[in-house]
Amino acid sequence: MSASADLVINGGKIVTPDAVFEESVAIADGVILAVGAESAMPSARETLDASGLHVLPGVIDDHVHFRDPGYPHKEDFASGTAAAAFGGVTTVFDMPNTIPPTGTPEILAAKHEMAAQKAHVDFGLYGLLGEDTIRHVPELAKTVIGFKLYMGNTFGKIPTPSTGAMLEAFEVVAATGKRVSLHAETNSIMERRETRMRDAGRVDPLAHLASRPAVVAVEAVSRAAILAEWTGARIHILHISSADELRPLREAKARGVDITGETCPQYLFLSADDYGRFAGVIRVNPPVREKRNQEPLFAALADGTIDVIATDHAPHAIEEKTRNDIWTVDCGFPGVETQMPMMLTEVAAGRFSICDYVRWSAANPARIWGLYPRKGVIQAGADADIAVVDLSREWTIDDAKLQSLSRITPFHGRRTRGLPLHTLVRGRFVMRERELVAAARGWGRSVHTIQQLPAPTPRNIDDTITAIVRFPTVAGPTGHATPHQRGKR
Ligand code: DOR
Ligand code: ZN
Repeated sequence: MSASADLVINGGKIVTPDAVFEESVAIADGVILAVGAESAMPSARETLDASGLHVLPGVIDDHVHFRDPGYPHKEDFASGTAAAAFGGVTTVFDMPNTIPPTGTPEILAAKHEMAAQKAHVDFGLYGLLGEDTIRHVPELAKTVIGFKLYMGNTFGKIPTPSTGAMLEAFEVVAATGKRVSLHAETNSIMERRETRMRDAGRVDPLAHLASRPAVVAVEAVSRAAILAEWTGARIHILHISSADELRPLREAKARGVDITGETCPQYLFLSADDYGRFAGVIRVNPPVREKRNQEPLFAALADGTIDVIATDHAPHAIEEKTRNDIWTVDCGFPGVETQMPMMLTEVAAGRFSICDYVRWSAANPARIWGLYPRKGVIQAGADADIAVVDLSREWTIDDAKLQSLSRITPFHGRRTRGLPLHTLVRGRFVMRERELVAAARGWGRSVHTIQQLPAPTPRNIDDTITAIVRFPTVAGPTGHATPHQRGKR
């Protein structure tokens, strides 16, 4: 081979969803130039000896909350993407429940600019899909990775669209081919439950679980699947927390609905038995559930019902997580930095293979979000997004040492086996020997430019509904509104 490389990684074991094989990787201009025998590699400016290590495609975490703009004391795009780099994560998709929410083209453009200045890793931005933002969908669709729709209330108090508005939203998004990620918890059920708990004087951590039983999620997943089937919209079920959600997910997949799903470490490794010990620290939406849900969730990953492992990285301050009244505790905790070590610990224990892990953490999200084969795989032509991992390295999760500004997790003190030592994004070290490469701040780029989606196949679309997005906006007394929406008030 004649071309020269910037970096050659020698001696490591490359992992794909199907195989582990010892080969070298040559990288030039941020892209993988060649994978093959060491003797066949071109000359390089630098070499990395990865003997005894595994070379994984960097994690694509399709669900993080980096709080920027709006909550700088919880996280910002620099600290969040630094945490990602330490977790072997090379691409993150950031949620829209920031202040202001990412629901207009102007706000989205400002967020893109901010993220490009601060990001250590590549990113995609979600656009908010709510009753008031449907009219912005065609414009937002040009630069988002996908849309986020909140079927139920959670941190940020984003209003929940009615089922009618959700159908309209799906009709409009279906035409764009973008995927809608759903916070699938039905608001009207949990609102009533929470009121009953509060009226009964319950302020203990388990009251949170009692206010959001699994039927909250089951009803939402089923309804979302019906609307997706009707409209042809592509959907992704976020943070699957219960065994009961698997049936509507499986059935929808069997019917041919373009529906995918993810679960997160909190639902695999924590259970209702932990509320006594962790109290508000494990308050998260959907809630950590009864232990009997854990095995079916692992099994659903294994059989492909659940496609992706993500984190729902949701940082908050210590004070916001340790209040006595459970209803005043902010929901969620950080996870982007700890997901890989926790999952690799299960690989070490023999629960699943390293190939499985790469499928759920990199290859599947890359395919689902239209980034494959530019991302999610180690092969010639792909971006050199790589986690170099020591599968035998032991580590103890220590909140105080996390990159996230949120220094409180229920995973504190957990002993893990398997740790990323280096993380490369498009050929550049962003984390090296467990140290942040400070100069990599601002290296991250939005991946919407490389997203390639199959042609949309909208169905049952009512033209009079999709026409609302074509009406010119007019200034109303409370700001901008379409004639359609003004008529509804
Ligand atoms: O617990 C949660 N926290 N669940 C969510 O859906 C949102 C997240 C957040 O933004 O804090
Ligand atoms: Zn979330």
